[in-house]
Amino acid sequence: MAVVSTDEPSVAIIGATGLVGLEMGEILAERDFPFCDLRLYASERSVGEIIELGGEEYRVEELNEDSFEGVDIALFATDSELSSRFVPVAVEHGAVAIDNSSYFRLREDVPLVVPEINKDAIASENKIIANPNCSTVQLVMVLDCLRKMVPIKRVVVSTYQSVSGAGKMALDELWDQSVSIFNQREVEVKNFSMQIAFNCIPAIDAILDDGYTKEEMKVVNETRKILNLPDLAITATAVRVPVFHGHGESVSVETEAEVDIPKFIEILEEAPGIEVFPAYDIFPVQINAAGKDAVQVGRIRRDYSVEHGINMWIVADNLRKGAALNAVQIAECLIDA
Ligand SMILES: NC(=O)c1ccc[n+]([C@@H]2O[C@H](COP(=O)([O-])OP(=O)(O)OC[C@H]3O[C@@H](n4cnc5c(N)ncnc54)[C@H](OP(=O)(O)O)[C@@H]3O)[C@@H](O)[C@H]2O)c1
Repeated sequence: MAVVSTDEPSVAIIGATGLVGLEMGEILAERDFPFCDLRLYASERSVGEIIELGGEEYRVEELNEDSFEGVDIALFATDSELSSRFVPVAVEHGAVAIDNSSYFRLREDVPLVVPEINKDAIASENKIIANPNCSTVQLVMVLDCLRKMVPIKRVVVSTYQSVSGAGKMALDELWDQSVSIFNQREVEVKNFSMQIAFNCIPAIDAILDDGYTKEEMKVVNETRKILNLPDLAITATAVRVPVFHGHGESVSVETEAEVDIPKFIEILEEAPGIEVFPAYDIFPVQINAAGKDAVQVGRIRRDYSVEHGINMWIVADNLRKGAALNAVQIAECLIDA
């Protein structure tokens, strides 16, 4: 496993004023992550902003080529363009970079890690570690439990993704559009392809030549990589819904043999990072999952349309286990080694 050379590393959050970056700071403080120094970087727009974490005040600085001097762990919460530019700079300065963008995720020399599943994929030579897409993380947490019982034949997933998954501007847009509608004002569309308030948009990220979206293919390819099942039959439809926080997923899994549902529930109950809702009439929902660490799974039932299969509903806070929490857990692996 990769290690940083100290058990009290110097940590930097890049994109510290964004939704994921702010959550990373909170989670480092909540989990008493043992840093000797924490630096917060963002664009020039945010320079001088003060962020309070664990009772300490930190001043946001502007990201530049010299930001990584002395940094051991660089947590990137920036878009692909910025990550592609600055992750290599961080590594050149001796840091291990944990990146939340999609830029490095499918590179063969970059482990794509959900610590509960594949922390052993991190080798000492890895200086870049990728954090998966938020929709992928909550899906693989549950699929990994299922495949411990029975081989998986095919996965069909439809996502119900909140606007915070698209960053802070998108969060503001749902709010502004909702207020406009209630006040009978014209709705302004900026970050989405159409009005998101009181609507569902069945296309997230760019649409590819074959009609799939980039978001859907992230779920497909990242799931195969994390589970180390390169030929897994899996298909996804990704939908943006007018919810502020938390992603939901309707998941149908066809298996090679019958799933013993009570046994599957037992495995889920014992799995770290998962909360299971076994009763049919009590189920996880986005507003309750927001702010929580666990991936929540409920509505587990037999799929009668195939010889062997189950249906379920999986919910998680996209900013926590879907992004910041998972990244901090990866950082914890680096110093635990
Ligand atoms: N949101 C999610 O649920 C989620 C889940 C998984 C992965 N991700 C990925 O995580 C990354 C961050 O997402 P987010 O939702 O946190 O985005 P966000 O809320 O839009 O935040 C973006 C951050 O990047 C900073 N930034 C923008 N331009 C910059 C520049 N030129 N120099 C330095 N910093 C700059 C922003 O700083 P300013 O405040 O100064 O503009 C802000 O801190 C993205 O790659 C996203 O795909 C997000």
